This record gives sequence, structure tokens and C-alpha cells, in this order.
Amino acid sequence: MVLTDPPYFLDKMDDRWDEKKVASTKYHHVIKSLPAGMKFDREQGKNFYEWYYKISKQVLRVLKPGGFFFSFSSPRLYHRMVSAIDDTGFLIRDCFIWLYTQNQPKAMSLNHFIEKLNEDKEDRDDLKKQLNGWKTPQIKSCFEPIVMAQKEPQGTFLENFRKFNVGLLNTHVKIGQDMFPSNVVSTNKINEVVDKCFLISKPDKKEKGDFNLHRTVKPLSLCEYIINLTTYSDKAVVLDPFAGSGTTLVAAKKMGRKYVGIDINKEYIEIAKRRIRSFEVDSSRYPAMSEEKQLRIFEKKANYKRLSKGKIVKVA
Ligand SMILES: C[S@@+](CC[C@H](N)C(=O)[O-])C[C@H]1O[C@@H](n2cnc3c(N)ncnc32)[C@H](O)[C@@H]1O
Repeated sequence: MVLTDPPYFLDKMDDRWDEKKVASTKYHHVIKSLPAGMKFDREQGKNFYEWYYKISKQVLRVLKPGGFFFSFSSPRLYHRMVSAIDDTGFLIRDCFIWLYTQNQPKAMSLNHFIEKLNEDKEDRDDLKKQLNGWKTPQIKSCFEPIVMAQKEPQGTFLENFRKFNVGLLNTHVKIGQDMFPSNVVSTNKINEVVDKCFLISKPDKKEKGDFNLHRTVKPLSLCEYIINLTTYSDKAVVLDPFAGSGTTLVAAKKMGRKYVGIDINKEYIEIAKRRIRSFEVDSSRYPAMSEEKQLRIFEKKANYKRLSKGKIVKVA
């Protein structure tokens, strides 16, 4: 399976934005010092679509039939990301929501602009009063959407699973207080009802690592939840093509899965490696699947034999 958190294409919202470049865009009509990502640039979505279409094609190429592709996004550009994934041939199965309550609202008051109007002070004050509490259309964002896409299975779900060991969901995984797994997930306590249905464990201070400088580290339990839902055994391979500080890879390692991570930034790769080293397989929570049991999924009538070294082989 592929679980990833790509750059969101919220242009100039990172630490590389340059005021001069920002000020020269045609969308620069708010406040000079504000990043352009807070303005509305139609090109961002189109660029994101085109770029993610190419990425998704490669993801489709490397997945087995029935393999899952989970990708995080932002509420604003989710539609472009999902259209790109959809258009490459994936089946869009669902949208997961990572719910939280704390985030910095970005909406701005218009008082700053009203002050600059060439109108009498009395009129300006009156306008300010009339627009008191009315702000720019940026609601406090309290969720991240995550698409659940699937490479088309070969034949029925059962046939596909027996051939490729992937394509079904593990409903032993529980969420909240022993509930059936859902597409809404929260990593922070909210209230009794929400926690009962959607809470997975809270991020632990140690899981990020004090050496980790990455700015958008995802909660480990969220990655574990998704990997646990979709991978059947320790033969499964988890790929994260935008690994950052390696949260997906740490989760895969803890669960005894194989993992592959890619990142363009060498510094992040070093951080990810260090993080991965600091975690062990958590066999109390994710017991290894016996090879024999796993092989039996593949073919109904096959026989298996244990060799002297303990290795299991199929007998013709
Ligand atoms: C949102 S972050 C991932 C954070 C990660 N989920 C974590 O928990 O640490 C996206 C990552 O994509 C990487 N990235 C951006 N463009 C890339 C590219 N073209 N190829 C590979 N990695 C890239 C960035 O360096 C960044 O670390």
C-alpha cells in the first residue's frame, strides 16, 4: 500500500516565500507581508492536478491489483488531488477525515483596509462598526481529508486477495471504544461521544523525536491505523513517496511491515532514518503472521511443509 502526505500546493505557505516574488503576483491584493497562499490563485489547483496526475500514475504502476493508495490533502485542494488520482484509473473508495479542534484561524478583519479609504473618519468608523465580526472567507480549518483509493482488483475481491494478499479491510482494527473502524479519526480528546466513536491514541511526545525539525509531522497512530486496516501480513510493503521525517515508515516498522520511503530533502531522510532506528517492532500489538497461515490464503488446495531450518515451502 501507499500512504503519503504530499506537499499541499498551498503556494508560498512554506518558509521559502519571498516577499518580492509574492508582491509581483496579480493576486497580491491583500496585505504586502501576507503569503500569496492566503490569496486565491486558481493556477495552484491546476498545477497540483497536473503534478499529482504524474505521481499517481507511478503509484498505480507499482501497486498490486487491489492495493490501496491513501493520500492526505487540504480541504481547499482535495478535489484536484482526488480528480488526478481518479483520472489515472484508481477507484476512489472513500474520504477519511482527520478531525481536530485546535488550529489557527486565518480570517482577517477588514479594519486595516477601511482605515485606508478616502472617506471621512465618521464614515469609516461607521463602516467598521457595521462590519464588526465580518472577516475574510477563511474559516478555522479543523480537519484534513485523506483519500482512500484502490487499484482495480483482478476478478472478485476474494480472487484478488488470494492472488495478491491485498484489497480487503481489516475490521479487527478498532477505533474509539472498541468500535468498527470508521472514516472519521481523531487524535485528540474532543468529547465523550466523539472520543467513543473516533479517537485513536493521542500523539506521544517521544514519537516525533526532539531532533526532528520537520514542520508537518503526522501522528504515528494515524499512520498505524491506516496501515493496520489495509495490510494483511508482514509480507506487505508500505511505500511513502513523500516521507518527510518518516512517520509512515516508523508506523510500518512498528507493525512489522516492510517499508520504502522517498524524500527530496536529504536532511529529512537523515531525520527519518534516525527516527526509524529508535523504534522496534511492537510484537505485543502486531503479532507476526505465520508464513504457513499466510501462504494458505493464496491457494486453497496447496500443501505446505516445514523444512528443517523452519522455512515453509509449498509442496507440489
Ligand atoms: C508534508 S511533508 C511529509 C511529512 C511526513 N508525513 C512526516 O510525518 O514527517 C512532504 C514532504 O515531501 C517532500 N517533497 C516535496 N517535493 C518532493 C519531491 N518532488 N519528491 C520527493 N519528496 C518531495 C518534502 O521534502 C516534505 O518532507
